[in-house]
Amino acid sequence: MSVSIPLEQLLAWIPPGHPDEGLARQVNVDRLPAHVAIIMDGNGRWAAGRHLPRVEGHRAGIESVRDTVETAARLGIRVLTLYAFSIENWKRPASEVGTLMTLLKRYLRSELNTLLRNDIRFGVIGRLDELAPDIQRELNDAVERTAGNRGMLFNIALNYGGRAEIVDAARRALASGVRPEELDETRFASFLYTAGQPDPDLLIRTSGEMRVSNFLLWQIAYAEIYVTETLWPDFRRRHLLEAVLAYQKRERRYGGITPAEAISAQ
Ligand code: IPE
Ligand code: IPE
Ligand code: MG
Repeated sequence: MSVSIPLEQLLAWIPPGHPDEGLARQVNVDRLPAHVAIIMDGNGRWAAGRHLPRVEGHRAGIESVRDTVETAARLGIRVLTLYAFSIENWKRPASEVGTLMTLLKRYLRSELNTLLRNDIRFGVIGRLDELAPDIQRELNDAVERTAGNRGMLFNIALNYGGRAEIVDAARRALASGVRPEELDETRFASFLYTAGQPDPDLLIRTSGEMRVSNFLLWQIAYAEIYVTETLWPDFRRRHLLEAVLAYQKRERRYGGITPAEAISAQ
């Protein structure tokens, strides 16, 4: 699969006549968000609704990750970042944390070939040195083996905190010897985990929560925020397409005024 013909790649994957086909055809490929970031939330509530243990929600959420990664890549999104584990998530019971890490390892093993086949480059953001050595090995292996891929960049945020990232960037800036007068926003961004990547244009949060939960605090300065009631384990291709379509109806202003307003203001 190549990302050079967006939409065609997506349509080829949707059975003809499927309701998602209509949605996909509405997407304006010239106005795609370059970077989509997702706060995958609601796994626990999904499980509770089925009288299952919370970890079953995490397990079910893996299928949503697969579907979302493939949809985004086929659509022609350049960067997809999924929030998988926050620094604050260590507050959860050790058994839940352990299951999340095991699921991550299993996901990487089973999906690496799919990532390679789809030309997807894998990346990780977060304080990785605090993760267990076996997880670090698995992550590094996936990063190295997909490093030559030219399609979508798929970042996983793991042991990630937005404030921690800014502190880490400040430390790196100091260690680099950059002079205070040389430090502007562009230079500072080059010390973040996401150096060189476009900022998210679209930030999606599932399960209805209206908060940012310490995710990409610097990078989402002007992101369009889309919150859906859908719980993460229920999130599929259709939901991503709906989010992209909603994004394409938004008018971004970046603190300025629209071209139409500029004309009428003359
Ligand atoms: C998101 O689902 C997964 C992680 C944060 C790792 P939750 O586990 O937060 O699910 P809820 O919010 O309790 O429903
Ligand atoms: C945000 O979800 C973190 C991830 C999706 C990894 P949480 O469920 O941890 O966020 P809060 O606690 O509801 O803010
Ligand atoms: Mg949650």
